[in-house]
Amino acid sequence: MGKVVGFSWGRKMSNTDVMIKDILLKCEAAGHEIAFIRPDDLEIKPCTGCCACVGGIMSGRNNGSCIFKDDLHILEEAWYSADAVIVGSPVYETSPSGTFKNFCDRMGPSHDVSFLKEAYDERKAAGKTGAELPDERAFKTRIGCILGVGGAMTKNWTVMTKPIMYECMMSSGVNVIDAHVYYGAMEVEHVLGNPKQMERMGRMADNIIAALAAEDEAEKTKWRGEEEGACPVCHQSVFEVFPGSDKVECCICGIEGKIEITDGKACYTFSEKEQNRSRMRYGGKLEHSNEIKHGAMTQRRVENLKELKEKYLHVGER
Ligand SMILES: Cc1cc2nc3c(=O)[nH]c(=O)nc-3n(C[C@H](O)[C@H](O)[C@H](O)COP(=O)(O)O)c2cc1C
Repeated sequence: MGKVVGFSWGRKMSNTDVMIKDILLKCEAAGHEIAFIRPDDLEIKPCTGCCACVGGIMSGRNNGSCIFKDDLHILEEAWYSADAVIVGSPVYETSPSGTFKNFCDRMGPSHDVSFLKEAYDERKAAGKTGAELPDERAFKTRIGCILGVGGAMTKNWTVMTKPIMYECMMSSGVNVIDAHVYYGAMEVEHVLGNPKQMERMGRMADNIIAALAAEDEAEKTKWRGEEEGACPVCHQSVFEVFPGSDKVECCICGIEGKIEITDGKACYTFSEKEQNRSRMRYGGKLEHSNEIKHGAMTQRRVENLKELKEKYLHVGER
């Protein structure tokens, strides 16, 4: 049996909280251990962009620890202890909440599975042990579900929610098996008065239970959502298009494909090679970690930077 952890950024006991708790109850009834966390009740400071976490991993100084000694460790422990995670956020301005995004920033580069695995292998080969090595639970095959809750009556007011919510699964290599956005939530006082949405949560729970019971990796991590989507990797349909060409790029995976229109119907194709370089897969993460290691972390110095900055130092300050 596994452990299922729900993370809710919604209001206390409002729609998102209860929808996640409903999934957890069903998972518990199936024999799984459960936990529920409201990150907004913890102290999670905003990322300052210092990059000390990535620097720590890449230099061998530490395992990606943050300069802030706040409650992030509680979220990290919950994430690492889970076999399945459910993340749920209300929709604010078409997107998940700002504090959800902060979670992605704080848990992103510092928990990137490719950064940590490379560091683990290098340090292990150098004879390091125990706390000198990244936490091995970072490399466990984990599944995840995404839930967004929007009050507006039109789906397009939730459009950025799922794509941005994939971010928290991306770095730590969680396999998203289902994603759902409940829109029109303001029409009824509480989701408990909306049986269709509660039934959908039942099916999300069934998907988690089936995935955790799977005997092989492919069965465990396969997509079980209710819409296939145009991207074969993330199963969403959010693309950047390039006017004047047939190229499309999945905004979640960062992979390139082609659009072809036959009899008025669009068809999207992505080569196997491109699919394997999705940032939702290890290949894409490794590509990015090499890019950081050999580009960003070995940055070109700028001569006289202090002097060049001088004229901007006090612009607009009162
Ligand atoms: C600042 C703010 C912005 C919002 N923006 C949107 C929006 O763009 N689209 C939408 O569908 N709902 C929007 N809503 C409504 C919330 O998504 C809705 O109240 C939702 O039920 C909150 O989830 P909860 O009940 O789990 O807290 C917004 C609410 C707030 C407070």
